Amino acid sequence: MNTHLGRAAVAVAASAIAVSLTACGAEEADGRPGANSDAVTVGLLLPENQTARYEKFDKPLIEKEVAKLTRGKGKVVYANAKQDAATQSSQVDMMITNKVHVLIIDAVDSKAIAGSVQKAKDAGIPVVAYDRLAEGPVDAYTSFDNEDVGKVQGKALLEALGDKAKDGQIVMMNGSVTDPNAKLFKSGAHAELDGKVNVGKEYDTVDWKPENANTNMAAALSALGKGKIVGVYSANDGMAGGIITALKAAGLSTLPPVTGQDAELAGVQRIVAGDQFMTVYKRYAPEAAAAAEMAVALAKGEKIDGIINQLVDSPTTKRVPSVLVPGISLTKANVKATVVDDGVYTVAEICTDKLKAACEAIGLN
Ligand code: BGC
Repeated sequence: MNTHLGRAAVAVAASAIAVSLTACGAEEADGRPGANSDAVTVGLLLPENQTARYEKFDKPLIEKEVAKLTRGKGKVVYANAKQDAATQSSQVDMMITNKVHVLIIDAVDSKAIAGSVQKAKDAGIPVVAYDRLAEGPVDAYTSFDNEDVGKVQGKALLEALGDKAKDGQIVMMNGSVTDPNAKLFKSGAHAELDGKVNVGKEYDTVDWKPENANTNMAAALSALGKGKIVGVYSANDGMAGGIITALKAAGLSTLPPVTGQDAELAGVQRIVAGDQFMTVYKRYAPEAAAAAEMAVALAKGEKIDGIINQLVDSPTTKRVPSVLVPGISLTKANVKATVVDDGVYTVAEICTDKLKAACEAIGLN
């Protein structure tokens, strides 16, 4: 993926973008909402539900934003593909049949979805690619700067390793090959790590599944020897959970630093406990807000130039108008300054009885 620095970076969040919120107009003959109508139906398709973010953050945030932008008159129809590309394609068909006004799609498989994107286009339904850049003629895209997310992970792992970086091997656990983000996380991480560590084993994890990461970690432990692994690059928190279980099952008393992504509650708790070194905190609100703003504007036939901050190329489509948001490294040192201060989790949610002492030690009380 190439990114072009487009217009000056504009406020990405729920800024008052020029979405006209005037009187509620009638539907046009082609079934689209009239330019002044707030009665927009947004089809929202998310890829899976094993990773907490989708139904805990992305879905409710997009629903809230659509309601705000349409003064409560808009509607979000939701489908989760549970990691199955064929299911997702039928879900798109259903939404086209039901004549939604716009689609927000987070693809299970960015290549496999291209035909569905084309179908929507042919039916006059604009498509916003959400978080993963779907192939095919999408109208807009919003995500994080995913190559940078990989760099943030790689840099943090190097910091954790300090002068021991080459004392043993690291294991790299990347995401699913059907996800273009996984490729970007991987190349960002390699850009930081290559030459500075020894990569003993590297895996692309089928379907991003924590149990597959667990199996691969167990295999890496037997192949390399448990005393030889100095660190583990894990692309997300779900997999970090599976990896840490495998490390503990191997009887390691001191765990090597393990990375992650998503700032899932379980991930943040492992960080507080000292089992996981870091995660990447991605503020979902600005990503969701950008998706909702672009979707509502596109449904009404309005321009989105004032919303975007980049132009991004996919393998099939050049210069997709996009909003990219940066990710932040979250370690023990900044739990409070990130997820707590932003209201993502309360101290009470993070600091269960078992974690009370660990929480106090880092001033979380
Ligand atoms: C998302 C991550 C998520 C992963 C697994 C990626 O495309 O950006 O936040 O952990 O998919 O669902």
